[in-house]
Order: sequence, then structure tokens, then C-alpha cells
Amino acid sequence: MTVKKICCIGAGYVGGPTMAVIAKQCPDIQVTVVDLNEARIAAWNDHDVNKIPVYEPGLSEVVSEARGRNLFFSTDVDQAINEADMIFISVNTPTKTYGAGKGQAADLKWIELCARQIARVSKSDKIVVEKSTLPVRTARTLKDILQHTGNGVKFQILSNPEFLAEGTAVEDLLKPDRVLIGGDQDEEGKKAIEALVNIYAQWVPRERILTTNVWSSELSKLTANAFLAQRVSSINALSELCEHTEADINEVARAIGTDSRIGPKFLKASVGFGGSCFQKDILNLVYIARSYGLTEVADYWEQVIIMNDHQKKRFANKIIKTLYNTVNGKKIAFLGWAFKKDTNDTRESAAIYVADHLLYEQAHVGVYDPKVPEQQVYTDLDYLATRSSDENSKLVQVYNDPYEACKDAHAVAILTEWDEFKHYDWQRIYDNMLKPAHIFDGRNILDKAKLENIGFKICPIGS
Ligand code: NAI
Repeated sequence: MTVKKICCIGAGYVGGPTMAVIAKQCPDIQVTVVDLNEARIAAWNDHDVNKIPVYEPGLSEVVSEARGRNLFFSTDVDQAINEADMIFISVNTPTKTYGAGKGQAADLKWIELCARQIARVSKSDKIVVEKSTLPVRTARTLKDILQHTGNGVKFQILSNPEFLAEGTAVEDLLKPDRVLIGGDQDEEGKKAIEALVNIYAQWVPRERILTTNVWSSELSKLTANAFLAQRVSSINALSELCEHTEADINEVARAIGTDSRIGPKFLKASVGFGGSCFQKDILNLVYIARSYGLTEVADYWEQVIIMNDHQKKRFANKIIKTLYNTVNGKKIAFLGWAFKKDTNDTRESAAIYVADHLLYEQAHVGVYDPKVPEQQVYTDLDYLATRSSDENSKLVQVYNDPYEACKDAHAVAILTEWDEFKHYDWQRIYDNMLKPAHIFDGRNILDKAKLENIGFKICPIGS
């Protein structure tokens, strides 16, 4: 089967970039990305392509090439579903905040709503592709809903998890390490798999397109995120030991990372991982393992999260302890609010939790981030519901200029590894700070010796 029209439900950090790249690489396929969020769709359609809602290097160029040609953004979900041969589900699957599994299980209500809508609207056979990260065995649920509430049309369900990393999404999508496609192993299932393989094969070498059964594919995505996060927690656990033993975590990471069995990637000590996926996916893995009675498996993976929470708290406590055990009324400048560089995404960013801890101690926090809008910082803090919005507004100020953010501060804390921070005029920052002027480098990106020469007191992670 040749796919001519694709619909993607969910125009977020995954749906937007993924579909833009498919449209760019496959000019013969019409791709329509739909979302309930009208403001988001309007932003994707903004004539100023720099105002699209997701910031990713290279993305605005891809969108401007394909938008209006074979890439469309719309709020008319029903029409796009009905016209499509293939429907990607790319909606959010956050951790449940209520009921059974609260705080661990994935909330699948948006997935189920999509399935019911697809079933209600579809008048012809469709291939439904799970692009969202889903608990293993979700395809079973989708199949149940589609088969029992549909109009008698046939649905094939594929799992095609997305492995892009925010900040390098376009590059990852154009040159993926692999594309994973899981589906039923009967004849119809294999035909559906082949239809999706043919799309990716237009720019991805065939040997990088892996096909599996649907359950392996679903579980592999959770597993990949768990392994990545586990490396971060492993190096962060050692960073604390380094601080007590005069070992240097950067040296240790280099020493172990040159072992080809270990490899150098994801071995950078930091204030802790953030992002919408790692925590949610590991919690989900833990929940699934527990639901099968696999206590040791669940406890093992849960420790990755416990370690990450510890690292964020430890960073905040170090600031407080170093500033003579009180930050009350002191200005702490945050450079960075996004969960990593080259993205405007702040979900689960370490900055939010470090700020919350310092605000609890009555600190004043000044925030500068090159891509995060002011309102997002307040929204993130208000979401925690630790204190009133009024208090958050009083204690936190967001700046458009990093030098203003650092002015009159007792300390600067680096929360995101934006490259521009390395190249600031640190002498100018030092001159305008209170003394002693402290820097807490939560990403180990600054030149320690150079800054110490200026007069800063530097506190990196793990040395
Ligand atoms: P997101 O929250 O940015 O986007 C999801 C979008 O779906 C929202 O705009 C929402 O309005 C829309 N939506 C929800 N229900 C809908 C419905 N019934 N009809 C139409 N639109 C609906 O989420 P994001 O980050 O794009 O993640 C989507 C999925 O991809 C999640 O399962 C996530 O775990 C997974 N994923 C995310 C990655 C990332 O780096 N953000 C990477 C790989 C996978």
C-alpha cells in the first residue's frame, strides 16, 4: 500500500518536528498536523516562521520549505482523520495526577480520546501509528476501542516510537540512529509495517529501519529512556562521592568513557536531568514492573529517579550552605530555565525544583534564559502549588538581559548548558555582583581557572 495522506494528532514537540521532516523528505505525501489547541495551531501557521511554537535549531527552515506545499496545520481533526490513510497519534502521555497509579502510571486519557475519535470518524481502512511513548500493551487497548466502536472499517496498529532528542530534533530526524517499527506479525500487519518502512526509506538507509513485534517496540522506547537516564544518575551519584574525595568527576567520566564498552556519551555530571520524558517514562516502567509483581525490577529503576531528585536538592542545599546557611532576601541569579540547551521546553526542568527549594528559604531568584518566555517561568512555579502565585511573582524576577539578571546577586547558578553563557563578559558580571561573588555551575560548562582569576568563588558539580 502507498500512503498518500498522513494525519498526525498532536502538534507538540514531537508531532510538529516529526511531521515537518516527513513532509520535507516526502513531497508526494500530504501531511496534516492537527491539534485541539487553537493557539498552538495558529502559532504553527504564523507567517513569521520564527514564531512557531517549538524552538529547535533548523526547524523553522524545514517548516518554511514544506508548509503550504504538503505540510498543513489545522484544528479540523475530524476532516484530517477521515482523509488520511495513515494516522499518527502524537499526543501527550503525562504521569497520572489522580486515582490509581497516581504519580507513576501514564495517563492515557488523551490516547483513548484519540482512538474513539478515529473510530467514530473513519469511513475507510486506516493504519494507526503510536508515535507517543506508551506503556507496553497499549496497542491492545487501541485495537479493542477501534474494533468495537468503529464503522466496520479495518485498522492496523503500528508502534513507531520517536527517539529524537529535543535541541537536536531536526538533525536526529534527518539522520536517525535507527527507526523502530513494531506491528502484528500476520500478513496484514506486515503490509502495514511495509507501508511505514517505505515512508522512512525515502531518506533513512534500510538497515537502520528496525522492525519488531508491537510489544518489543513499545517496551524499547521506555527502555531506551530508562537506560539514558540511568547513565545520568550513575555519573551524578559519583559526582557526590568526588566532592568528598578530591577526585574530579570530569576526569573520572573521561577515564571511564574512553572504554569502548562504556562510551563517552551521557556521562556529563549535572544538576540533574529534566524534560518531559525521562522521569515520566521511568515512573511508568516502575509502575508496569510493580503491576506484574516484579518488586526488584521496579525498585532498581526507581532508584534512578530517587538519585535525580537527590541531585537537584543537593545543588540547592549547596547554594544555601555556601551562602552562610541563609539565602533569605539574597538574590540568586539563574542562568538558564529550559531543561537543556537549544530548546524552549521547560517541562520537569531542574531549574524549577532548585528555584522552588531556594524560594522556600525566602531567596530572591532572578532568571535569564535565551528562549524561555517570562510567563513560562511563573507558570512552571505556580504549577508546583508550593506557594501562591503572588508570592512567586514577588520573589522571582525574569530578565531579558543576563547582565541585569546577575546584577546585585550574591550568586549565579548555571541551570542550563546554553553555549552563550561561556562567552559572557564575566568580569562585567563580577563587578556588578555582591562579594564574595559565587558561581554554582550546575552544568560544568564554565572555565573554572579563568573565573577564579577574576575573583569568583566557583562551585562546580563533582569536584
Ligand atoms: P506535547 O504536549 O508537546 O504535545 C501534545 C499535543 O497533543 C498538545 O498540543 C495537545 O494539545 C495535543 N492533543 C492532546 N490530545 C489531543 C486530541 N485528542 N486531539 C488533538 N490534539 C490533542 O507533547 P510532546 O512532547 O510532543 O510528546 C508527545 C508524545 O511523544 C508523548 O507521549 C511523549 O512521551 C513522546 N515523546 C516526546 C519526546 C520529546 O522529546 N518531547 C521524544 C520522544 C517521545
